[in-house]
Amino acid sequence: MNNSIIPYGKQNITKEDIDAVVEVLKSDYLTQGPKIKEFEDHFAQYIGSKYAVAVSNGTAALHLCTLALGVTEGDKVITSPITFSASANCIRYCGGEVIFSDIDPSNFLLDINKVRALLESSPKGTYSGIIPVDFAGKAVNMEAFRKLADEFSLWIIEDACHAPGSFFTDSNGIRQNCGNGSFAELSIFSFHPVKHIASGEGGMITTNNELLYEKLLKLRTHGITKDPNNYQNSIEFAAGTQTHHNEYPGWYMEMQELGFNYRMTDFQAALGITQLKKANDGLQRRKEIALKYNQAFKNISQIVLPQPELIGEEFFSHAYHLFIIQVENRLEMYNELRKKNIFAQIHYIPVHLMPYYQNLGWKAGDMPLAEAYYKKCLSIPMYPTLSDAEQDYVIETILSLLGKA
Ligand SMILES: Cc1ncc(COP(=O)(O)O)c(C=O)c1O
Repeated sequence: MNNSIIPYGKQNITKEDIDAVVEVLKSDYLTQGPKIKEFEDHFAQYIGSKYAVAVSNGTAALHLCTLALGVTEGDKVITSPITFSASANCIRYCGGEVIFSDIDPSNFLLDINKVRALLESSPKGTYSGIIPVDFAGKAVNMEAFRKLADEFSLWIIEDACHAPGSFFTDSNGIRQNCGNGSFAELSIFSFHPVKHIASGEGGMITTNNELLYEKLLKLRTHGITKDPNNYQNSIEFAAGTQTHHNEYPGWYMEMQELGFNYRMTDFQAALGITQLKKANDGLQRRKEIALKYNQAFKNISQIVLPQPELIGEEFFSHAYHLFIIQVENRLEMYNELRKKNIFAQIHYIPVHLMPYYQNLGWKAGDMPLAEAYYKKCLSIPMYPTLSDAEQDYVIETILSLLGKA
């Protein structure tokens, strides 16, 4: 019996991380200081995008993306039912309508063929955009989605929260990192502690589009600009009396549209920077863990592995945010593992079945493949600091519960 709890995911905080945060806490800027741009630059370089905008969390990132793309009342946007609710909620924040489309059961990602069928079944112009999700760390083929989106004049927001460092190989044999801006207008990441990079709360938007980048910077901070090149006018504050920006250099600002305070703090950004340095080592360790699970369970008929056939390049392209097995007796397995201090989890309740979305008209049976997947899925421990002994214990416990030990 393992005495301490083995969770399904966990952050890896080292002395370097702690020192970096403390240094910022002793500095002049807790927020709106130099660490934000530094983190953005490092992140953009890591992912391979032109621009990056740090924000307070992944949900804020999604909201800013739907705002920047102009989602409005009644706009129909397509997403996957197997994701965290935030991927869909961002459409609702702007008054849009969420259209779920079923998954491909071989990889649990939004099935492009089903999206195509949906688009072809309605007049062009019915839909505004697509939000594919690199679920569990498996990269969506964004090249294929871009082609489809262009045919129907749609924008794409790639929800890459699970997938920093994950990639697919395009039709020219070129590695395309999730969120690199080559295909989606905007991509988003989360730095919640169970993700690859932890900043407490935190998020990032990446893009190659300069106009969207400028817009996001403004929306992140109340719709305010302090850039003299972008001022719209002087402000009339009483009849015949105006405040001109050149009278108050360094202070004057204009709120030009309705934005939010979705800023990240500098100490979170400092943590993000040191976490990013460890990201590749973390990915490597996740792949070792995945390989060991695959080996241990490959001949166990009661376990369906996440794409056991993935080998070579394909195996290594996965970021393994989650390691999801499918078992028939999921509830029993979940409860028995908890008794043994292994806290597996379930990702996710299909979003269309959440009470909020059922109240909007979605119901059981609408997404049969997502619902079938949900009945059996179980996320078992996957994080870089999972020790060999802990993983052995997880494997032995699962095998013994299945009568195979
Ligand atoms: C796929 C996905 N999208 C969006 C989010 C939202 O990110 P955050 O928790 O940082 O708001 C999450 C986080 O759990 C997620 O897993």
